[in-house]
Amino acid sequence: MSLKKIAILFSGEGGNLEALIRALHKKSFDGTTIEVALTLTNNPLANGIKRARKFGLEPIVIDHTLFPDRETFDTVVTESIRAHEIDLTVLAGFMRILTPIFTEQIRAINIHPSLLPLFKGARALERSFESDMKVAGVTTHMVTTELDSGEIVDQACFSKEGLDFEAFKAKITQTEHTLYPESVKKVLLT
Ligand code: GRF
Repeated sequence: MSLKKIAILFSGEGGNLEALIRALHKKSFDGTTIEVALTLTNNPLANGIKRARKFGLEPIVIDHTLFPDRETFDTVVTESIRAHEIDLTVLAGFMRILTPIFTEQIRAINIHPSLLPLFKGARALERSFESDMKVAGVTTHMVTTELDSGEIVDQACFSKEGLDFEAFKAKITQTEHTLYPESVKKVLLT
């Protein structure tokens, strides 16, 4: 039995964080056990802190407002990930732009609420909803220095027809919570 350790980084609600913990923490797949060995947030008020505690996990809080620049913040976050001997870092609504200090040292995966390469960057969900495309979806991808541009791990899509914005958002959330644990398994176990 081998062990793979993941870190989950989040900034807000923590819906993906919870879905990942539920699906993966201390679960075994084909002789490999996955452990959420680190949860970390930049936001002391993130709701995800409460969600992690439900599972007995205590997030490390590294408040980015206490650092003079992105590089210093990324150095401390990177050191924490390295100290926990993490195999894969999972960005789950981690709302920080990462510098090469992070991206060049840390193997990480991200989830984005659009079918990349469409709608990179901010307001992806809104822009995807407003577009005249008939389908929408979510993408998991490896993290590189260039925003939302690393190798695509997986995608899932659905028809937008008949969905108002609230129903669309709910569909994105539901799709993310199903896709993300599977993508983490794909990266870690294959
Ligand atoms: C998700 O929609 C994700 O795609 C984006 O940020 C949101 C985070 O939501 N990167 P939550 O905190 O996981 O609920």
